[in-house]
Amino acid sequence: MTDKYAVIGNPIAHSKSPEIHTMFAEQFKGKPAGDMVYKDRILAPLDGFAATVERLRKESYKGCNVTVPFKFEALQLSTRLIGRAQVARAVNTLKFEGNAILGDNTDGFGLVRDITKNLGFDIVGKHVLLMGAGGAAHGVAQPLFDINANLAVVNRTVEKAQRMTAAFDKQHQATVHTYEELVGQRFDVVINATSSGLADEMPALPPGIFAPGALAYEMMYGRETPFMKFASANGAAVVSDGFGMLVEQAAESFFIWRGVRPETAPVIAALRNR
Ligand code: ATR
Repeated sequence: MTDKYAVIGNPIAHSKSPEIHTMFAEQFKGKPAGDMVYKDRILAPLDGFAATVERLRKESYKGCNVTVPFKFEALQLSTRLIGRAQVARAVNTLKFEGNAILGDNTDGFGLVRDITKNLGFDIVGKHVLLMGAGGAAHGVAQPLFDINANLAVVNRTVEKAQRMTAAFDKQHQATVHTYEELVGQRFDVVINATSSGLADEMPALPPGIFAPGALAYEMMYGRETPFMKFASANGAAVVSDGFGMLVEQAAESFFIWRGVRPETAPVIAALRNR
């Protein structure tokens, strides 16, 4: 029987996950890994996430992706958690295995892979600035530690950044800053994990923040945010949105479910050209 997958969120109409996973599955046509269908975008009521997951399990789905605002509930619902999801306090991938629900988080993996593989930036030992301490930042901070980036975190509400980094692996201490403290500092990679772009706002970054050859990475996608415009105007060598991260996190979910890694480059190219 063809295996079924879906994505759950609220709102959900914008999700590109079904298109992405359908393209991945086509790469394995005729093989067991490609014998799947992922077409449902499921709008769960705000108080109905657990019931929605239960329904999918009863209907023999093999797993699902989870997006805003249910990533924490997905963590709580998981009966077996992968370490990186535990650290991120968020789950974006559920795999149904008999009575067990495996929870994982592929967001940070997707970000690191997009930066290192697709954009070709080696971030080991590099000065990396992560802006934000909300859900999006939590999802990616530990993987940045794990690749041994020299990590600094900045957030308007500095206490939130302190709480976030205190929860991470003690072997990798990140420095925590206010925006004012960034004056005079330069970074090789600056990642915007704040929601400022949604409101067309610009975090209070000082000019001169980008080291020569620096990458400015916006985790949102779909339009040029004030951060991306600022980066272009203030000397970032490469400015990227989060589209590659979206496809890379999906590829890691696909791997968790299907046991094989799809090619991401053709999918990124195809979706960008739509
Ligand atoms: P998300 O899940 O998208 O991270 P969130 O948990 O509400 O959303 O967190 C939003 C993040 O964006 C926070 O780090 C927030 O900073 P504060 O914690 O100080 O509120 C940050 N943010 C939102 N708008 C911002 C802006 N205009 N400038 C700087 N940071 C901003």
